Amino acid sequence: MARFLFTIIIVLCSVSSFILVSTQGIISSTNGNDTKQLQLRFDKKKGEFRILQVADMHYANGNKTPCKDVLPNQFAHCTDLNTSAFLNRMIKAEKPDLIVFTGDNIFAHDAEDAAASMNAAFAPAIASKIPWAAVLGNHDQESTLSRKGVMNHIVGMKNTLSKLNPSDVDVIDGFGNYNLEVNGVEGSNLMNKSILNLYFLDSGDYSTVPSIRGYGWIKESQQLWFQQTSKKLQKISKAPGLAYFHIPLPEYASFDSSNSTGVNQDGISSASVNSGFFKTLVEAGDVKAVFTGHDHLNDFCGKLTGINLCYAGGFGYHAYGKVGWSRRARMVVVSLEKKPTGEWGAVKSIKTWKRLDDENLTAIDGQVLWSQY
Ligand SMILES: *[C@@H]1O[C@H](CO)[C@@H](O)[C@H](O)[C@H]1NC(C)=O
Ligand SMILES: *[C@@H]1O[C@H](CO)[C@@H](O)[C@H](O)[C@H]1NC(C)=O
Ligand SMILES: *[C@@H]1O[C@H](CO)[C@@H](O)[C@H](O)[C@H]1NC(C)=O
Ligand SMILES: *[C@@H]1O[C@H](CO)[C@@H](O)[C@H](O)[C@H]1NC(C)=O
Ligand SMILES: *[C@@H]1O[C@H](CO)[C@@H](O)[C@H](O)[C@H]1NC(C)=O
Repeated sequence: MARFLFTIIIVLCSVSSFILVSTQGIISSTNGNDTKQLQLRFDKKKGEFRILQVADMHYANGNKTPCKDVLPNQFAHCTDLNTSAFLNRMIKAEKPDLIVFTGDNIFAHDAEDAAASMNAAFAPAIASKIPWAAVLGNHDQESTLSRKGVMNHIVGMKNTLSKLNPSDVDVIDGFGNYNLEVNGVEGSNLMNKSILNLYFLDSGDYSTVPSIRGYGWIKESQQLWFQQTSKKLQKISKAPGLAYFHIPLPEYASFDSSNSTGVNQDGISSASVNSGFFKTLVEAGDVKAVFTGHDHLNDFCGKLTGINLCYAGGFGYHAYGKVGWSRRARMVVVSLEKKPTGEWGAVKSIKTWKRLDDENLTAIDGQVLWSQY
């Protein structure tokens, strides 16, 4: 924990000195088509891989779109551009190696043009040249594009590692089911091996079964793809995994303040049925933490059967929020073990905290999610 606090202090120092954004993830091409070639890998200097999670931007029409749930004196000067400003600040402060957008990226119900909204919403990530990945929420398709259309647009954007769906599966539900592999440090003997596995899934929008009300869920076809992918990857190495999607699993309701870190003040808006994905995750064994959005006023992490279930908390100013409760984002930093020889080894620990969009980008709720020992 002392080490962790030290990291936070370093990060805070770098905010005040405004070090320019840099990333070791070199994009192999600027035309937006060749970024699938990009190999994510751990940083050589610190043996870290840093992930910024942005949940529920709810972006609409830029400076024409007002904020929701801000203080009365803040309404006059608050729009979607405040969401962009927060994203720029987070990128500068945390220098992530990957930015993950966990859905409701646009609030398409209010967006005049889905493509234009997405272009504006993801613009800070693209400008940073940091690789990014996105999944869909339940609101992304409510404007001029279908879910497939939205995901297709995302996949064609610059510097993104998002994919429409796995190429080796014939039929899968949803759009934006894919995985990313993070290799060991360049020059180490793990440089060609994935030592951290990231899974992205489409948790759907609404039930299409007339007798089942409410939100969507992760279907059997997606779970089968996850199981096969996890199995294949675990044959190569015992890498820990992280999963990102939008709608929380019913198991998120297993916690209260005595056994979770963060706030639970919004209800858990899962599907009304349990599709069994939590059990599938436990069975697969590699995923150590799940990260969702959807319930903007929840930002807790709780651990159940060895798996952390985490919310990021709402990020966007056009998303519903709570007056006086800052918009926020979640960081995850995965650290490698340093061998006596000085070489970086496998993953040693997975830590997380959140940052508030206040004047100091205050970091809160630091915790270790998983450690090798
Ligand atoms: C990138 O892909 C798009 C769509 O597939 C295509 O229209 C465009 O010409 C490609 N650009 C380059 C530079 O290859
Ligand atoms: C939104 O951005 C404007 C312009 O920078 C700023 O004056 C205002 O304080 C911001 N509002 C909030 C709620 O952050
Ligand atoms: C990793 O792959 C590169 C390129 O194929 C090769 O030059 C290098 O020797 C490999 N390193 C290890 C440790 O496998
Ligand atoms: C958390 O604590 C509550 C009682 O305070 C208990 O009902 C619940 O099962 C606990 N959850 C977990 C995951 O241990
Ligand atoms: C930000 O940091 C400054 C200097 O430490 C402090 O005076 C101020 O109260 C902090 N603001 C917030 C909102 O925490």
